[in-house]
Amino acid sequence: MANVIVGVTGGIAAYKAAELVSLLGKQGHAVRCIMTDAAQQFITPLTLQTLSGNPVYTSMFQMQENPEWQVEHIGLARWADCVLIVPATADFIGKVAHGLADDLLSTCVMATAAPVFFAPAMNDQMYANPLVQRNIDILREAGYGFVDPVEGNLACGTSGKGKMASPERIAAVLETLREQDMKGVRLVVTAGPTREVLDPVRYLTNHSSGKMGYAIARQAANRGADVVLVSGPSSQAVPANVTLVPVQSARDMFEAVKQQYAQADIVIKAAAVADYRPKTVAAQKIKKSDGDMVLELERNPDILAWLGEHKNHQILMGFAAETNDVKQHALGKLQRKHLDFIAANDVTQQHSGFGKDTNQITVYGADGSVHELPVLSKEDAADCLLNLVLEAYQNRKP
Ligand code: PMT
Repeated sequence: MANVIVGVTGGIAAYKAAELVSLLGKQGHAVRCIMTDAAQQFITPLTLQTLSGNPVYTSMFQMQENPEWQVEHIGLARWADCVLIVPATADFIGKVAHGLADDLLSTCVMATAAPVFFAPAMNDQMYANPLVQRNIDILREAGYGFVDPVEGNLACGTSGKGKMASPERIAAVLETLREQDMKGVRLVVTAGPTREVLDPVRYLTNHSSGKMGYAIARQAANRGADVVLVSGPSSQAVPANVTLVPVQSARDMFEAVKQQYAQADIVIKAAAVADYRPKTVAAQKIKKSDGDMVLELERNPDILAWLGEHKNHQILMGFAAETNDVKQHALGKLQRKHLDFIAANDVTQQHSGFGKDTNQITVYGADGSVHELPVLSKEDAADCLLNLVLEAYQNRKP
């Protein structure tokens, strides 16, 4: 059981922090709460003190009242196995992202070596604001965790993505502190689109954002894997402890993946690779003429098929982005490309595929197994995929 600090900042979802503290206590964790001044406008320290069975910390200068810590924020920071910021306001996220530490909670977050998770809760427009998103990216890049908000009715009367994740979902992150169950596993993940240059100003590409592949890389690194992420152009933040190999075209990706292949234990190909490229690349910008234009394309290498043909000890998982006959097409790729698994996503579904934060995947195994996953955040879906490839890898290991 873990020592958990629940840091409460000032938002209406603060009342759910009380539920979380109660839940963590029931699960057997030791809980201490830190509240910002604004948080105390929403719920009282007495509530959290009663539920946690411990004093609640509200000020940097509380030492006399709590003589057990020599220096309050350091003592708390050292005590914690995990810090949960619930709810995390835009203000608090921005503050930590920019290294500010001017109250007990922010100093404790700066001073702790324990994993810190933020559970944002705010108005949907505020959450979508590029500045808030940039601050979230900064924190993710620095290795902080997030329990993403969900869509729902918000306190401001609107509905959208900004409702704090449930206390159960937040408490579940303690399970991810668990085992470094991928320690020593060398994973190569591909992500994002490829770009096939046509002339100095144009290229052919697709809608892949990189979210799925980056989520796989992030979760695997959190579980202790050595991760190489071969990525086409993407605006996703590079996860902490992941080695990025940036590429542009399918042929670049092919070369990068081939270089990594011999050392890899597992390869997951989430990238959306262009099957064709322009046959000729114009040295100058192509000028329009009156008539139509026909573009001649030639085949790109099928990277995954090559990996399948040259498979030695590696576990191979491909993705299939399909718009029709999903199962049939996915099974065809599983077989033709000699894969261990294919993760099929029906990209016509509302919650699946390109650019979305969620995905609904069915995984088909070469052994005939079928794993139908529900709609999940791409992080949670990534964890399910990693469980499958890890199990196969462990079973294959002599
Ligand atoms: O990036 P996001 O916005 O999060 O979106 C995620 C996703 C929809 C891109 C991802 O989940 C996904 O489905 N990726 C594979 C998309 C795809 O190109 O599928 P495909 O059916 O064309 O290819 C099948 C498999 O072969 C894929 O693993 C692909 O990486 C691989 N391939 C394809 C062509 C090629 N020339 N070389 C390959 O290695």
